[in-house]
Amino acid sequence: MSSVASVGTVQAALLSLWPGFTVETLPGIDSTNTELMRRARAGSTAPVLLVTPRQTAGRGRLGRQWQSQPGASLTFSLGVPLAPPDWSGLSLAVGVSVAESLHPRVRLKWPNDLWLGDARGERKLGGILIETASLGALHYAVIGVGLNITPREARGLSTPPGWLQELLPDIDALQALTRVAVPLVETMLAFQALGFAPFQARFNARDVLQGREVSVADGHGGVLSGSARGVTGAGALLVHTAAGMKQITSSEVSVRPLQRRADPSA
Ligand code: BTN
Repeated sequence: MSSVASVGTVQAALLSLWPGFTVETLPGIDSTNTELMRRARAGSTAPVLLVTPRQTAGRGRLGRQWQSQPGASLTFSLGVPLAPPDWSGLSLAVGVSVAESLHPRVRLKWPNDLWLGDARGERKLGGILIETASLGALHYAVIGVGLNITPREARGLSTPPGWLQELLPDIDALQALTRVAVPLVETMLAFQALGFAPFQARFNARDVLQGREVSVADGHGGVLSGSARGVTGAGALLVHTAAGMKQITSSEVSVRPLQRRADPSA
């Protein structure tokens, strides 16, 4: 597949969905999220998909780094002006869209991880980083997605990695982008119109934490444990604890399954 043809096809499809949408490829950048937030603060808020093979300062959730090698991963950000009725659940809706575009066996770990689970254990395939800026009356959302495409080493990572070629052996980063980009923009339009509700059951169908004992750390020393029970229509994680059902909403929390379980369907 030629890269020119693929990016051109994505660009044409996005333009037909959203007037003025552009696709931009850069040889390298510190972080596609950082760049789109910089542009938004400088007044550039047109809808754009920015993709690069090389990030020198990729960022993850909770202030973590996101490391990737050129050719070994897909790293892109979508920047769009957005006005949903309620922002709750945006990163979950993005996860649903990306997972459904890729493969039936891509799972989701609340709130923003793409996971693989099989006899080799559970591994992180990718992640989503959403940032927003309020610019007067306009709200701009930057949706960053990082996906491992080829095998990568577990060394230095808090969660063992999985990669897309485990499921789709011949896929490359550009082919992965052509699968996910158009459905993702359609998801933004659906989320803007309807919020998270249409995505709730679809998230729960891929929820890797469902029924599992989890530990939830609030990032300030507080820890809560219980059994994960899916997500609400607003995207909150339900955790059944000794003190009753709790709804976890904060983007500051980190959730870990307490024990690993192989996927019997693998
Ligand atoms: C996470 O798992 O914590 C989220 C990772 C998000 C990584 C992507 S790569 C493209 C975009 N640019 C960034 O700096 N981060 C996101």
